[in-house]
Amino acid sequence: TWTMVNIVDETVEAIRAQIGGKRAICGLSGGVDSAVAAALVQRAIGDRLTCVFVDHGLLREGEAEQVERDYVEATGVSLKVVDAADRFLDALAGVEDPEAKRKIIGREFIRVFEEAARDIVADAGAHGESVDFLVQGTLYPDVVESGGGEGAATIKSHHNVGGLPDDLQFRLVEPLRALFKDEVRKVGEELGLPPRIVWRHPFPGPGLAIRVVGEVTRERLAVLRKADAIAREELTAAGLDREVWQFPVVLLANVRSVGVQGDRRTYGHPIVLRPVTGEDAMTADWARLPAELLERISTRITNEVPEVNRVVLDITSKPPGTIEWE
Ligand code: XMP
Repeated sequence: TWTMVNIVDETVEAIRAQIGGKRAICGLSGGVDSAVAAALVQRAIGDRLTCVFVDHGLLREGEAEQVERDYVEATGVSLKVVDAADRFLDALAGVEDPEAKRKIIGREFIRVFEEAARDIVADAGAHGESVDFLVQGTLYPDVVESGGGEGAATIKSHHNVGGLPDDLQFRLVEPLRALFKDEVRKVGEELGLPPRIVWRHPFPGPGLAIRVVGEVTRERLAVLRKADAIAREELTAAGLDREVWQFPVVLLANVRSVGVQGDRRTYGHPIVLRPVTGEDAMTADWARLPAELLERISTRITNEVPEVNRVVLDITSKPPGTIEWE
């Protein structure tokens, strides 16, 4: 539409004015926000943008492959993939507090970007140059919820807003800071990004770390990853992806309950299903998924994931609940 073309043109101009002839990097998460932010910056400064995909070991099944394939195919952007799983998981060892997890992840992200920036300059043979700008897909609701909006208190430190270190060596480029998600999707369509990127459900930057309630370990992540893949697969098979805003699946790693399977007593962990509907994530309602779909998900998870013996449904709206459990 006329307004979308306008928003795109004006944003691209503003980015060009901000970055000038310098270099920028953008962390891609696989989600629509960073994808659209990067596409705008690419339009503004071309190959002086390098995208960095950090595999922090907190991704869902198939996610890394999807970014490497789909996004690069759609945009032709130059992408650097950093395998940083050990580093993130080591830093998270022993940590249970949700805000502490977010801060650690935000800090590690920045350190990884700083290292990647040095590598990019070295690879380009651009001695004496540096990467001065970091592109982030921060949206208006992130700004508000991290206490950046006027009069707002911090609800959660979104790692890409509240969790940045004080000694940050980059200047931030945040072209989506005034937009809501539905507007970002329209900009993405305007830029020609494929529907599977534009319509992907939001996924938080700290990834599965804030969906393991309790300490994050490799074993727990593997359990959650399996349960999450089943839930997403069944939602898609039921044709309900667009009806649902987001479908977090949460592992209560600190809780165990007694169950029975065959003639054996089990003492396993609960999985929480948190499907929500909404417009912009500032408010949300629990999604009334069909009972047969919930039953299939529950049966499959308890059959296919031995560590889980109970599946529960979160029927809290936001407020008073938030979408994520941490
Ligand atoms: P809550 O849990 O606050 O989440 O209702 C609102 C929306 O934001 C996502 N979310 C995050 N996204 N970094 C992100 O990039 C974060 O730290 C973060 N925390 C929550 C959440 O998935 C939902 O879409």
